[in-house]
Amino acid sequence: MGTNKSTNNAANVAVNNVTNRSEIKEVLVSREKIAEKVRELGQIISKDYEGKELVLIGVLKGAFIFLADLIREITIPVDMDFIAVSSYADGTKSSGVVRLIKDMDVSISDKHVLIVEDIVDTGLTLNHLKNLFSTRGPKSVKICSIFDKPSRRLVDINVDYKGIEIPNEFVIGYGLDFAERYRNLPDLCILDPNVYRHD
Ligand code: PRP
Repeated sequence: MGTNKSTNNAANVAVNNVTNRSEIKEVLVSREKIAEKVRELGQIISKDYEGKELVLIGVLKGAFIFLADLIREITIPVDMDFIAVSSYADGTKSSGVVRLIKDMDVSISDKHVLIVEDIVDTGLTLNHLKNLFSTRGPKSVKICSIFDKPSRRLVDINVDYKGIEIPNEFVIGYGLDFAERYRNLPDLCILDPNVYRHD
């Protein structure tokens, strides 16, 4: 946990000039495009939940940056908490098993819950969380994800507030990692396959 230290020199270079890193194939979604989409989602959510008790639940670790940006674009009163799960362990393939590492501290009973994710891939994580949350007496449970990789879906799950659809590439940055690194890249980037392929 927490191996991506801000004192890492290579990572600091990346924040200023991501395209200079040999591990990055290309920038897939720029920070400007992400910010525009986050603003848009914040406006829609503010309108849809006007007068309702809303709790945002961020799914750690990947969603921490998106949730931080999104909550500042929401103009209605809102509570928030985090839940920590892991399904990818230290590699690039989903294990299919969703491990609950940290549960939320707030009660979601009689509240409107919006699960905030960085990416929907197979959909297994959100499917599991939606089912889990629904047993806790919320008024509603909906999903908001900044990125969506529909081509990888294994379960049918509705993403109520969808940001940007992306192709089936291994992406890093804006909270997303490879083996706990690269979460601090401000753009969504494609990882060079040489970093994770050893054949
Ligand atoms: C990633 C991502 C989502 C999940 C999506 O989390 O943040 O939670 O995978 O994949 P799925 O749709 O196939 O279930 P990961 O397990 O890598 O943990 P992390 O957020 O701590 O990086």
